[in-house]
Amino acid sequence: MSPSPPPTALLVLLLLVFVAVVCKETTHASALNAANTMGVSPQKLERIQKYLEKINKPAVKSIKSPDGDIIDCVLMDKQLALDDPLLKNHKIQRVAPKWPASRSDDAGNQQPRNGATRRALQAWNVVDNCPDGTVSVRRTTVEDVLRAGSLSRFGKKNVHNQLAATAVEHEYAFAGVGQQAYGTKTIVNVWNPSVRNNSEFSLSQLWLAAGTYGLDHNTIEVGWQVYPGMYGDSNTRLFIYWTRDAYNTTGCYNLVCPGFVQTNSQVVLGGPIAPVSTYNGNQIEITLRVRKDPNTGDWWLIYDNIAVGYWPSAIFTHLKSYATSVQWGGEIVNTLGSGQRTTTQMGSGQFAKEGYQKASYFRNVEVINTTSYLVPPQSVYTSATYPNCYDIQTSSSDPSWGFYFFYGGPGRNPQCP
Ligand SMILES: *[C@@H]1O[C@H](CO)[C@@H](O)[C@H](O)[C@H]1NC(C)=O
Ligand SMILES: *[C@@H]1O[C@H](CO)[C@@H](O)[C@H](O)[C@H]1NC(C)=O
Ligand SMILES: *[C@@H]1O[C@H](CO)[C@@H](O)[C@H](O)[C@H]1NC(C)=O
Repeated sequence: MSPSPPPTALLVLLLLVFVAVVCKETTHASALNAANTMGVSPQKLERIQKYLEKINKPAVKSIKSPDGDIIDCVLMDKQLALDDPLLKNHKIQRVAPKWPASRSDDAGNQQPRNGATRRALQAWNVVDNCPDGTVSVRRTTVEDVLRAGSLSRFGKKNVHNQLAATAVEHEYAFAGVGQQAYGTKTIVNVWNPSVRNNSEFSLSQLWLAAGTYGLDHNTIEVGWQVYPGMYGDSNTRLFIYWTRDAYNTTGCYNLVCPGFVQTNSQVVLGGPIAPVSTYNGNQIEITLRVRKDPNTGDWWLIYDNIAVGYWPSAIFTHLKSYATSVQWGGEIVNTLGSGQRTTTQMGSGQFAKEGYQKASYFRNVEVINTTSYLVPPQSVYTSATYPNCYDIQTSSSDPSWGFYFFYGGPGRNPQCP
């Protein structure tokens, strides 16, 4: 027989139950308030709540982040990823493949030039931690889904959604290579560009892709973004994306659909990162690495030095083998239509020629080649949709930065009307 609990333990327990009940009530109430003010029917609300029950897996612990998010600590083997029928009987991998050595790796970790560079952090992780054996997941709320307009649009890029596509234009400034690649590494400068309205976003990311654009394109995408329509605020957030059918029916942002298997309890995908760089001031950076495991074929994500998890080989078609293109740079969405340019900024909101501490950059960009070497990209092309709005310039004046470029811009301006 187990000993009866001492009175203090009992009190703590009662308090916890009370807090849990109160928290649940408040969340429910605020969801209802939001729904009421937005004129949502009870039927729709019920559909959304059913959906959320499916995607928000039960948490062994939940943490309220100072930036407003709720982080659920979900048992690793109960995470949403495993609901994917392609991952039936999937054995969760625990160890990322060894990262290939590179001559530039040491240089890549140096402080760049004048002005201190610091790492971006996630605020929730400073407050509290998720226990071992769990993964840290940003909880999706009713408000998140309502902002997306519909369940089918929630968490998706909708590149080919004909309804949305009438006015939606994606504009880019990026560098890329076309070659067989098994991964990439880059250090990315972090900013907080302003975004004109909730339907637009600004992001800076890497793409690993294979297949045919618009048909069966497979992509793996990682970076930072500002997307008020998705997250409900203008914070700069870490994000991932994937698809295996050119964004048609598969894939999503972060962990809101089955697919990406998380293995760590320290990094929240979709969570804000802070601080960000300031004009003429401190420059903030993150290091992103993606590598295909030579044994399992899974694509691992390493954020700074933390193995976050992986995109299982099984969720892809072309990317089961290797990537045929790798790209790095910025993308914004413009919803104005009729040939008008938006004031949504890309990167820092400054043009590439402004350079260090003003324009945003990617540095020490490398790819993993067919013989598993991490090497600077060869025969790089650059592309900008409207160079008078957002542009890109590669540079080589600082050898310790390896292959690097500045990119971005203010959007609408006298040269970009
Ligand atoms: C997208 O998926 C739907 C449903 O599977 C299919 O009917 C349609 O042809 C696909 N569209 C494209 C562009 O692949
Ligand atoms: C954003 O601006 C576009 C173009 O003016 C408009 O159609 C759209 O409704 C706006 N979105 C929101 C969420 O305000
Ligand atoms: C990969 O890079 C290494 C190091 O530069 C080089 O020796 C090797 O030939 C490259 N492999 C291929 C297939 O190009």
